[in-house]
Amino acid sequence: MAGANLTAIVTGASSGIGRALAVALARQGRPVGAVARRADLLAELAAEVRAAGGTIETAVADVADRAGLAAAIHGLEQKLGPTDLLIANAGMGGETGAVEMNVPQVEAIMRVNFLGVVYAIEAVLPGMIERRAGHVVGISSVAAYKGLPGAAAYCASKAAVNVYLEGLRIELRKLGVAVTAVCPGFVRTPMVAKNPPMPFLMEPEAAAARILGALPGKPKVFEFPRRMKWLIRLARWAPDRFVARKVKMKL
Ligand SMILES: NC(=O)c1ccc[n+]([C@@H]2O[C@H](COP(=O)([O-])OP(=O)(O)OC[C@H]3O[C@@H](n4cnc5c(N)ncnc54)[C@H](OP(=O)(O)O)[C@@H]3O)[C@@H](O)[C@H]2O)c1
Repeated sequence: MAGANLTAIVTGASSGIGRALAVALARQGRPVGAVARRADLLAELAAEVRAAGGTIETAVADVADRAGLAAAIHGLEQKLGPTDLLIANAGMGGETGAVEMNVPQVEAIMRVNFLGVVYAIEAVLPGMIERRAGHVVGISSVAAYKGLPGAAAYCASKAAVNVYLEGLRIELRKLGVAVTAVCPGFVRTPMVAKNPPMPFLMEPEAAAARILGALPGKPKVFEFPRRMKWLIRLARWAPDRFVARKVKMKL
């Protein structure tokens, strides 16, 4: 199987898409390094993966803590071997309105969703460049393409991820390291549990399968499901009054 025995690191592996990715990667035969803050959920994940015959190690870290995250990822590499695939998935939602701006929330979202991706990449990239091998994947969102009312900071953080990964990708293409921005539509996870009904909602396991199905092709950007990709493109051209009436995000 492609990539078997090559270590994959997943941040935000305690819940939702990250958890489903960790389980599916272990099922492919990859040693998995799982990072998140909630040790109890990581322990449950590890037990499930090991019971199914998979290899997994876990590390507790906050992706917004640059040194702590580097130490956690390097510790996992000591146990599992060098990282072949990084999936920088950890992320947070949170309302950031216009009338009540909540700047501390904006800062937290940028720190976790954008800098958390940067810090994870920093921990693995020198090794990948040295080995001239590896794949860096950031879990962004279709929200990267449209500033949505009530979720301005979330959308901005994902736009930052996409553009940052694009710059890295172009620079790394001659150095043997692939870079992919993954932009899912809505996935049923705790992050969106308070949202009103969402179009084209996917289960985390289905989203993880779509992502892992796409990664061997090393796409620059992987947006899915296709209908959501087109809906968000249309939304880019929709009048503001229409978007204001139709879109109610509760992150
Ligand atoms: N659900 C959707 O509809 C959707 C759509 C597009 C993109 N996404 C993106 O998919 C990714 C995963 O989200 P999800 O929907 O699976 O949400 P989720 O179920 O809430 O999971 C979020 C994960 O990120 C981790 N995390 C959050 N803050 C962290 C921090 N400071 N340090 C380390 N880990 C942290 C959480 O673990 P701990 O709390 O244990 O640390 C958890 O494992 C996010 O980047 C999200 O923006 C989601």
